[in-house]
Amino acid sequence: MTTTPADATATPSWADLQRHHRDFRGDLRGWFATDPGRAERLTRTAGDLLVDLSKNLVTDETLEILVRLAHDVDLPARTEAMFTGEHINVTEDRAVLHTALRRAPGTQPPLVVDGQDVDADVARELDKLSAFADQVRSGAWTGVTGKPVRTVVNIGIGGSDLGPVMVYEALAPYGEGGPAARFVSNIDPTDVAQKTAGLDPETTLFIVASKTFGTLETLTNARLARAWLWEGLVAAGAIEDTDEARQAAVGKHFVAVSTALDKVAAFGIDPANAFGFWDWVGGRYSVDSAIGTSLAIAFGPDVFRELLAGFRTMDEHFRSTPLERNVPALMGLLNVWYVNFLDAHTHAVLPYAQQLHRFPAYLQQLTMESNGKSVRADGSPVTSQTGEVFWGEPGTNGQHAFYQLIHQGTRTIPADFIAFATPAYPLTDADGDGGAVRPGADVHELFLANFFAQTKALAFGKTADEVRAEGTAEHLVSARTFSGNRPTTSIMAPALTPSVLGQLVALYEHVTFVQGVVWGIDSFDQWGVELGKKLALEIAPAVSGDDEALAAQDSSTKALVEYYRAHRA
Ligand code: F6P
Repeated sequence: MTTTPADATATPSWADLQRHHRDFRGDLRGWFATDPGRAERLTRTAGDLLVDLSKNLVTDETLEILVRLAHDVDLPARTEAMFTGEHINVTEDRAVLHTALRRAPGTQPPLVVDGQDVDADVARELDKLSAFADQVRSGAWTGVTGKPVRTVVNIGIGGSDLGPVMVYEALAPYGEGGPAARFVSNIDPTDVAQKTAGLDPETTLFIVASKTFGTLETLTNARLARAWLWEGLVAAGAIEDTDEARQAAVGKHFVAVSTALDKVAAFGIDPANAFGFWDWVGGRYSVDSAIGTSLAIAFGPDVFRELLAGFRTMDEHFRSTPLERNVPALMGLLNVWYVNFLDAHTHAVLPYAQQLHRFPAYLQQLTMESNGKSVRADGSPVTSQTGEVFWGEPGTNGQHAFYQLIHQGTRTIPADFIAFATPAYPLTDADGDGGAVRPGADVHELFLANFFAQTKALAFGKTADEVRAEGTAEHLVSARTFSGNRPTTSIMAPALTPSVLGQLVALYEHVTFVQGVVWGIDSFDQWGVELGKKLALEIAPAVSGDDEALAAQDSSTKALVEYYRAHRA
């Protein structure tokens, strides 16, 4: 595979999109009024997901040209290159094989990449972590004083945290009866202090999760956790205050997940208690690797495997469905349309599911670390805008916070609305409110009525005449008018099961990939996070009182550090 990507902006389809855009006038009201088949024609399915694209600012022609664009930039060939392990992460010279983490067991022929039987490696690690999870859950694995584990604390950051946290929250109803999980990520000492508060060291298991095992935040937090463990065990008289006793305690209360098993050993964790993965799994694509060990413990390995099966369902859809019906491809292409032609800068993800409250944060790393790039895979400058700011909050909380801007602001904000037919907690409001909420109302129905209403309001708005017809005073008419034409995609599934969650995550992984292919960038490196990390280490001495290091700083940084030094209590 060449390292010189196609330049989308030099393709015939891009020129067609430019022409199409010149005459384009979004008219969701008119389109729906004159075309009763629009919703059905623009709704797709992928696995268990129903994806209604009809409230997007596109015509059939827009979609047809976008699909041609995908062909012009060789999306199908690039997709195959990813699935088969070509080194498409060119700046790190690596394969990109998160999809190998969820291939069907026993798939023939096995996937062999760079001489490595990837399927065998994945199966071995999955079996190892499943057996460990079973041991912890059954109580066969105990702490140093023989007590079973009640809480696992995952220590990791970025991809070694956001995925596990997001899934833990999303699948909470599946965790009843199992060990609880907590997650420490921030180097702000508040995080480790608060997350260890109230825990019993004798029943706590720490998982140090770090792909590189060199991340400052994670290793610092791991040392703080180890000190907390030792202090607590010694104070309780559970272990002797000796090096041997301390080391034995680490052996029973710390495991690790990493690609760097030598560094795990150097930290003092027995490599026998370490779960591996491989450099071809990017951090932000790693929740379905051993990075999900906390999830396998909290929910059980069967639930974890169901999650993987969901990922696989979407992988198969993405790899084998023609682009016209290929949901990740179409969603990625729509994002290109919005970013490059309709000048969208941000993209909202609005789950009508409290359990998905960390999903937007998870997607921020997935999409923005992947596609926030200014150079193409061959190092040349990008030829169009790239990336979008992803953000969101669960409905209906967002409605009472930032939806005002989506409904009436000056910018186009494409938004994905996500909802499930069946709730995890089917509650009814026995009393009702004596008005709109009838006694015995199904609260999930009230919730979903909001989901349906919002995309309708955004698409069709409210005209000035409709506002006037309600008797609104003339001087208030413009403030109460809604332009409509605000694009949304509605994603629904029967319920938020482990499989459906896997499908959703894989959907966005592939959407991100599609956009990266069109923009010609390497969506799998993250050099942009390095400079700040390096400077933090350089500035640290100045912060701690080194005047020479302080003098070397620019005037703004120097003044800020001086402020810190003067005010630190
Ligand atoms: O700094 C960014 C990053 O490298 C992410 O890509 C990654 O998910 C995170 O740091 C954590 O890295 P690690 O798992 O190696 O500790």
